[in-house]
Amino acid sequence: MSVVRRASLLLLALAALACEEAAAPDAPDPLVEDGLAFVAEPAVGRAALEASLVDPTNGYSALRLARYTPDGWGALTAWRPRVRPVTVRDLGAPAPTDGFDDWWGGLEGDALPTDRAGIEMLGARAFTHFPTQVVPALRSILADADAAAAVGLTPDADGRLSHLVWVEVPGGRVEPALTCATCHSDGVAGRPNMAFDLGAVYDLAAQARTPRGRWGPGRVDVTGDGVDNPTAFPDLRPIRFQTHLHRAATVRNGLLPLAVRIETLMITSTGEAWRPPRAVAFALAAYLWSMGDDLPPPVDGAGRAVFDATCARCHAGEGLAGAPVPIDDVGTADAVARSPERGTGRWRVPSLRGVADRMLLLASGGVRGGVEELLDPARAAAGHPFGLDLPAAERAALVGWLEGL
Ligand code: HEC
Ligand code: HEC
Repeated sequence: MSVVRRASLLLLALAALACEEAAAPDAPDPLVEDGLAFVAEPAVGRAALEASLVDPTNGYSALRLARYTPDGWGALTAWRPRVRPVTVRDLGAPAPTDGFDDWWGGLEGDALPTDRAGIEMLGARAFTHFPTQVVPALRSILADADAAAAVGLTPDADGRLSHLVWVEVPGGRVEPALTCATCHSDGVAGRPNMAFDLGAVYDLAAQARTPRGRWGPGRVDVTGDGVDNPTAFPDLRPIRFQTHLHRAATVRNGLLPLAVRIETLMITSTGEAWRPPRAVAFALAAYLWSMGDDLPPPVDGAGRAVFDATCARCHAGEGLAGAPVPIDDVGTADAVARSPERGTGRWRVPSLRGVADRMLLLASGGVRGGVEELLDPARAAAGHPFGLDLPAAERAALVGWLEGL
């Protein structure tokens, strides 16, 4: 063994000793490695896409298999928009022309921060600032404070309205846009915004193409399948515990499939005009993945035994999620599960991590009173009959246990 090699082994041994307490700081973080590969090499995302699609023939899958290629969507311009949060001070005022701080900071093009904390911070920033859907119909709503309140736009402590942004669009105009957080945050990031009513935005602005505005708050028809199948905004906090993405179980879940799902949805939701930088798509996925850290793991307790006997054949494991089940086994309003675009013939069994303060339940959004209402035999919404015939004491124990999640 050469002297140099021996010396470097000694250094390694010393480094290992020094790191005995804290984890080795230089050990490669698999999340960062995944991210760097995803950003640098389009084939990585393509492989994740192909491996994750449950039914390659449905519309969602077929479109992506055709277009998610270097020459297809990969050739679109990566958009680095300049934005400015919409605040209460903008109500009734013309669209601003200044103050578009460059929220990208030091980020260059497709460059991903090289540590997990930096990546998650970029994702958190994108979640509340990246314009995911430009909605010109919001202009007339923002001109009128009453209309803004009627569609559920509510200011936070800083006066920011439901995480909307003004964005400079190509050509220099300024338009209002939704961010992820407009639908997916009610102040707690990831939790559905039950108040926001996008359908009513279109209706009030009289820009409805077909009768929209009938979805009601907390729901939107996200599929382009020609079927009227609005879906409740899902809770994103437990995303990493989900076995599949989408109510209809369209995509087998994983960090890279999630990044591809986010990237491709951002492309389709703006008419395939541009793509987000891949670094942003991955950072969003990593940020959503981290949200599960704050959800308490299931514990033992009186209700746990009831749960195991009544619910765990579907909601299983540490995620309280499980393999998709045939649609007819559940009996809830199922138009979205049967979507020709996203459908797979099955329902995804949703994770119950974080269900304690998730008030908007079922794909239809038909239960708005949390688990207490879902397990109330007198509830109005059809289907998911599980637990409804339990003796009252057992049902109460079950609700108590679920409310600790
Ligand atoms: C207009 C409201 C709206 C906006 C804006 C929006 N989403 Fe969603 N999102 C939905 C709805 C509705 C679904 C449910 C779709 C389904 O299950 O088929 C959904 C589903 C998802 C899912 C799958 C969740 C699951 O449980 O399977 C993810 C992940 C997601 N959104 C992330 C994002 C990100 C990231 C952004 C911003 C880039 C964003 N969404 C913007 C409404 C929205
Ligand atoms: C046959 C499988 C199955 C069984 C058994 C089952 N569930 Fe579910 N559960 C589902 C499916 C599928 C959904 C999604 C249905 C929908 O969105 O319409 C669901 C949805 C839920 C939701 C709503 C979650 C959300 O985010 O919308 C809760 C809460 C829930 N189940 C709790 C329970 C409890 C508690 C039990 C036992 C009393 C139970 N489930 C038994 C399959 C099952």
